[in-house]
Amino acid sequence: MGYALAEAALEFGHDVTLISGPVALPVPEGARLVKIVSADELFEAVHQHVRQCDAFVMCAAVSDYKPLNAAPRKMAKQLGDWKLPLTPTRDILASLPQADREYLVVGFAAETHDVAVSARKKLHAKNCDVIIANDVSGSDVGMECDDNEVIVFFREGGEKQIPRARKKVIAREIMKIVFELYEKRLTKKS
Ligand code: C5P
Repeated sequence: MGYALAEAALEFGHDVTLISGPVALPVPEGARLVKIVSADELFEAVHQHVRQCDAFVMCAAVSDYKPLNAAPRKMAKQLGDWKLPLTPTRDILASLPQADREYLVVGFAAETHDVAVSARKKLHAKNCDVIIANDVSGSDVGMECDDNEVIVFFREGGEKQIPRARKKVIAREIMKIVFELYEKRLTKKS
């Protein structure tokens, strides 16, 4: 979805910085690629680049936990069960400074149930302007496939459904919504 969003933004003539983990997808032409492999690297990269953008779209499915310790070398097999202590990763969206925030923040919420309630909760808890929710309880839309179907929830109230379509089509619709919101905000300020 991130790559589709980057492509859509480029099509509309925007500058794009794409912060990406390892994927088997071609980098959209014209995007500045920042490579990361861990939640900690993503945290650092986002904080480094976010101030230069007008809209920050965060669609990464960040792991909620990471291993507490990393072994410096291969660990020998042991008999019996293995317990791996995990520690929470930092919430990147929630960590963004709120004072004098000039850019729009767009979050994503992948849900298996109570989609609207959970998405609205995250919209407020993570201080987003918009959250894009999708139901990932099935296997033919959402993650690891070409189609998606989303509901866009706005901080100011209201929502908009984008019916099932190729991710490229959904991405264009999302970018149009983000751009309209950005323009509206600029008009309000001036
Ligand atoms: O995983 P979850 O449904 O809570 O993700 C909601 C939003 O929060 C997504 O935009 C995701 O990229 C973001 N997130 C984050 N940092 C995390 C976990 C999720 O910014 N550690």
